[in-house]
Amino acid sequence: MRHFITLNDITTNEFNHILELSASIKQEVKQGNYRHYLPNKILAMIFEKQSLRTRVSFETGMLQLGGGSIYLGSEIGFGKRESIKDIAEVLSSMVSIIMFRGMKHQSVVDLAQYSSVPVINGLTDSAHPCQALADMFTLHEIFGSLRGYKLAWIGDANNVAISLLRAAAKLGMEFSVAAPDEFQFNSSTVKNLIGENVTEGFNIELTNDPYKAVKNAIAVYTDVWVSMGQENEEEERKKILQPYQVNAKLMSAAQSNAVFLHCLPARRGLEVTDEVIDSTQSKVVQQAENRLHAQKGLLVWLLNETQLVK
Ligand code: CP
Ligand code: NVA
Repeated sequence: MRHFITLNDITTNEFNHILELSASIKQEVKQGNYRHYLPNKILAMIFEKQSLRTRVSFETGMLQLGGGSIYLGSEIGFGKRESIKDIAEVLSSMVSIIMFRGMKHQSVVDLAQYSSVPVINGLTDSAHPCQALADMFTLHEIFGSLRGYKLAWIGDANNVAISLLRAAAKLGMEFSVAAPDEFQFNSSTVKNLIGENVTEGFNIELTNDPYKAVKNAIAVYTDVWVSMGQENEEEERKKILQPYQVNAKLMSAAQSNAVFLHCLPARRGLEVTDEVIDSTQSKVVQQAENRLHAQKGLLVWLLNETQLVK
């Protein structure tokens, strides 16, 4: 049984294969050809946290692929009204695939353990692999092969940064993280996060200096300073992360053709200025749209891998 809980669940070859599949499905759709790769397949989507992109991209994706999806929010009482085991077993008896967005990473691990259908992580406190997949798809569309290129992360080294780190390691990119000590990786966490999943060309730079991070970068990426579930740390985080705002001055220190990326939702005026997010360098809408295309590739690949016909 294959799951997509973190990017460590797939090899570099599989990563590249999913990117190629996503590109070809996207191209078909742009030509008006909505091929039904997944007729009668149903995706159950469990949400413990809010979402715009994740819900809409998975729901739209399943419909375009000839299947369907079911949104399950707080009414199911995940882990409270009934156990994760019972939920996993019941859903597995009715649907072909499960997507989970939740608080604790352990919950998606438990769900996968008890599920007999593939489980996709749609964001937890320590990973957002679907986002990183779509981001690499986007960078690939813009720059072609990514090996040796530098991606700069500015701000909190959070769940999105963790998944991008793994993606950079897999695709042989340089990954530079500028963050204050409180919200920075350290070299042993980096080692634990990527394990043996490293492709030649990968390099990690950890710094407190955003200008150092963006030097020679082809992409400058940031995310909110206060992720979902961290609302009680808001004031402290805003103070500590203030020097890590991505503004026009910082963007001008990156490579001249660099793009700005953000997974969205953004807090304009905090981690990024309007001037940057609304500039021609900003690819945030292309990134968001690519959640749809990259996840369609992922869904088709996962269900084919699992040879699941329900
Ligand atoms: N980027 C992302 O996952 O967006 P949502 O939280 O709106 O799903
Ligand atoms: N780091 C953010 C990402 C949202 C898509 C969060 O976890 O809230």
